[in-house]
Amino acid sequence: MNPISRFTAIGLLSLSFSSGAIAADNPSLYQRLGGKEALTAVVNELWALVAADSRINARFAHTKPEAFGGQLVDFLCQASGGPCKYQGKDMKTAHTGMKLNDAEFNALAEDTVKALDKFKVPTGEKNEVINLLGSLKDEVVNR
Ligand code: HEM
Repeated sequence: MNPISRFTAIGLLSLSFSSGAIAADNPSLYQRLGGKEALTAVVNELWALVAADSRINARFAHTKPEAFGGQLVDFLCQASGGPCKYQGKDMKTAHTGMKLNDAEFNALAEDTVKALDKFKVPTGEKNEVINLLGSLKDEVVNR
């Protein structure tokens, strides 16, 4: 191999390695949160916090925790880039008729932060989760 083609070969090789490294270094939010098990633990904790939160717990008076928790895990799993297929209603449909207000939305967001804190989810991922919820606010509130 002459020096120029060797140089090109090394260049291409390192390019392919580095692009592989970029993919491996760029895991989804779902992966960074720790996958389905971690998400399930966070949702269980969130449920416990919501159930004890007098600002919003009346909203869930008729909710079956297991069924709802499962839907929420699937929803968050899919929305954070995970492999799940959420089969429930879209957010607008699910919350239409509830007339949820900003304070209730913020209460749920606050409880979510507490649940993430309990599992020491780093600030970056925590902000991504909160931004994700925030991006759905318009579909959930005042419907
Ligand atoms: C971005 C924020 C929110 C997300 C991602 C979210 C997600 C969900 C999901 C996935 C469902 C299940 C829908 C289905 O089973 O088809 C649901 C239902 C529901 N959500 Fe939300 N929600 C949000 C905000 C809120 C807030 C702020 C409240 C009230 C404080 C609330 C109260 C409810 C209730 C009462 C149900 C019905 C539960 C049942 O089946 O009994 N949600 N939500």
